[in-house]
Amino acid sequence: MSAARGNGTAVGVVGAGYVGLVTAACFADLGHDVVCCDVNPERIEALLAGRVPIYEPGVESLLERNRARLSFTLELADVLRRCRIVFVCVDTPPTASGDADLSRVDAVVAGIPQTGTRHVLVMKSTVPVGTGDKVRLELTARGLDQIGYVSNPEFLREGRALADFMEPDRIVIGAFEGADGQAVADLYADIEAPVIRTDVASAEMIKYGSNAFLATKISFINEIANVCEEVGADVGVVAQGMGLDERIGPHFLRPGIGFGGSCFPKDVNALKQLAGNSGYHFQLLTAVIEVNELQKRRVVGKLEKHLGSLRGRRIAMLGLAFKANTDDMREASSIVLASRLRSEGADVVAYDPVATEKARGVLGDGVELAGSVLEAVTGADAAVIVTEWGEFRHLATRVVKEAMATPLIVDGRNLLDPRQARAAGFAYESVGRPADPADMLRIAADRADAVS
Ligand code: NAD
Ligand code: UGA
Repeated sequence: MSAARGNGTAVGVVGAGYVGLVTAACFADLGHDVVCCDVNPERIEALLAGRVPIYEPGVESLLERNRARLSFTLELADVLRRCRIVFVCVDTPPTASGDADLSRVDAVVAGIPQTGTRHVLVMKSTVPVGTGDKVRLELTARGLDQIGYVSNPEFLREGRALADFMEPDRIVIGAFEGADGQAVADLYADIEAPVIRTDVASAEMIKYGSNAFLATKISFINEIANVCEEVGADVGVVAQGMGLDERIGPHFLRPGIGFGGSCFPKDVNALKQLAGNSGYHFQLLTAVIEVNELQKRRVVGKLEKHLGSLRGRRIAMLGLAFKANTDDMREASSIVLASRLRSEGADVVAYDPVATEKARGVLGDGVELAGSVLEAVTGADAAVIVTEWGEFRHLATRVVKEAMATPLIVDGRNLLDPRQARAAGFAYESVGRPADPADMLRIAADRADAVS
């Protein structure tokens, strides 16, 4: 990543979470002076002490390297006093109805005082189409015409957020006033990427459309994988063959245990609700959501195929975060799976290299948390790969096999080579790849060995 260059504009960032901290670190690295605020005192205290409250590769060192250009505060007023351009990066979680909860965004807008100075509020949080219009009306109603509004949705992925911010596929800027849009575009001048300048509503829709399309691709390949299991085809080769068609492309065709995370589930739902509230029934998204829910549960059937009833069985869940390289547990498939396994009567022991602390509060008391893979699999009747952490690639070893009560691996991410896993003596199930009838015999042989 490049060191600081840039033109040293003062940039405000409201919200010091995944998006806010990445935005702050990257703008500082581009040479801007960044003032970042959050309402969470512990977060700000940690950041002032040089500790980073999220796990995102590279963020800690980027913040450290640009310390001189970064400051942290609890006060929105500090941000507005020192910066004319202010990025809103607060969370927009789902409400019970599936709509986006805009209470944090509303709080930021309500917190803008009656200053005579010109500011541009830049919305990076994902907000429903129409939010910009509503904020614009509210600001005007309060006599704050001098506050400009720009939509600049963020497309970063957790786990590779810095690279996504610094080398994006595109930068989208939707503005009511051309000059405000230009001021935002100037901040990104050192980043090489196509810039889409558009109206606010279209910018908001580009974000929802993109996430919903990517989620649709995942549900689509998951259904193809499920059919592959029925007809004996291999989804890995199928996805490769499909992806070589330029019109389809190779990305987001990895089948698995269903998409999770803080964004796809909530944004797909929010778009569905947005359409419904506007009088349009978005049928396709209803199916995308349903397929995703069912996908999380398919693991249970694969365990039962080999173990029969799961009552009293010890199941090791390997990986808890919604994907690798993050500690984010929001909407992680592991939460649904753990709950399903517990209601089938299984004892669940779980391990994650970084998300254990966050998981503790989410998974509930019924799930035992282990400190290593080996601890998790010891005495287990099955090991389920839930998150594709690199360290699980070497799961099919003699040590693991000997530690387990039954040598069964259910690979929810197609992380292992089926031949190697079976050659190491495991019964092996994955997603959309041919089953091996000899797996049953492998388990039977292992049980016979254990008895003799
Ligand atoms: P987050 O929960 O990690 O961070 C949000 C932060 O905002 C928290 O620290 C919270 O304390 C703070 N906050 C809440 N209200 C505030 C207020 N009134 N003033 C100041 N700070 C306040 O959320 P996130 O994952 O960074 O997501 C932020 C937004 O960006 C969401 O709308 C999300 O959909 C969108 N987004 C997220 C990602 C991602 O990968 N996480 C990617 C693209 C877009
Ligand atoms: C996603 C988008 O990729 C980002 O562009 C977007 O900015 C972000 O949501 C957001 O709006 O917050 P993220 O949720 O961090 O990013 O992670 P992804 O890599 O997209 O993965 C999302 C989920 O889909 C994970 O559970 C992952 O395991 C799953 N996935 C992804 C698959 O099951 N198969 C795939 O081929 C790809």
